[in-house]
Amino acid sequence: MKKTQSNFIPNKMRVKKIIGLSPAVKSLILEFTDKNVGKKFCFKPGQFLMVSNLGYGESVLTITSTKSELPDLEIAVRSVGNNTQSLHRLKVGDPIWITGPYGNYFDFDKMAGREIVIIAGGIGLAPLRSLIKTIEKNPKIVGQLKVLVGAKTPLDLIYKADLAKWQSFSDIYLSCNKADSKWNGHIGKVTDLLDKVDIGYDAIAVLCGPPVMFEPAIKKLKKLGIGDDKIYLMLERKMQCGKGKCQHCTCGDKYVCIDGPTFTWSEIKNNWEVFK
Ligand code: FES
Repeated sequence: MKKTQSNFIPNKMRVKKIIGLSPAVKSLILEFTDKNVGKKFCFKPGQFLMVSNLGYGESVLTITSTKSELPDLEIAVRSVGNNTQSLHRLKVGDPIWITGPYGNYFDFDKMAGREIVIIAGGIGLAPLRSLIKTIEKNPKIVGQLKVLVGAKTPLDLIYKADLAKWQSFSDIYLSCNKADSKWNGHIGKVTDLLDKVDIGYDAIAVLCGPPVMFEPAIKKLKKLGIGDDKIYLMLERKMQCGKGKCQHCTCGDKYVCIDGPTFTWSEIKNNWEVFK
């Protein structure tokens, strides 16, 4: 993983478009109110923003779009707290403030020509969308791409339109804990898919989702022969202040917000906090 210089100056943005992804998750497409700031803004897949609706606090949210969509930025918001509930109430044209980008990002040099296996649970697909969409723009930057996605129910599955589109350059596997009569994918956990999909020992695996999926996923990946330094975990869920102050994100001697949000399993495997 690589890191860039963080930008702590707040930027005012405006909500340009709102897309409902599931009953609990909305995608917000944001535009810079100052076009010159937008022209200079840059980020890499995996990096996050601090997003605030003034008077309601701040939330850590990973950018879900790619640099080719700049100067617009896209984020996915699950309504869980004071600030995110207020972000869900925003209308097109409303102001919103961001700082960032923060955090490390995916190193495509390490991924070049390799089989990439993405394992996403629930809203965990959102922080990985920028990575997948960057590969979509230039599929040759990696070898084969496999995307394994799990949701509680078909209704909770986010980015359905993207998942249909991504089949043109990747293999998509879906699972739901509880399915309806129209469901064609696997019924069960996303980690069950690791028993069904053909994955080489030299693949790079990238995981993002609820901590409960990490342990079974890592066990299965290691059984396939994938090394600890080829298993990446995005731990963005652990962050709260995003600035190294609240200690909410500590993982042993690491802070997810300062040293991450993405780590290889070899970097953090001795820290039990990964699974909590
Ligand atoms: S999120 Fe607060 S210290 Fe890392």
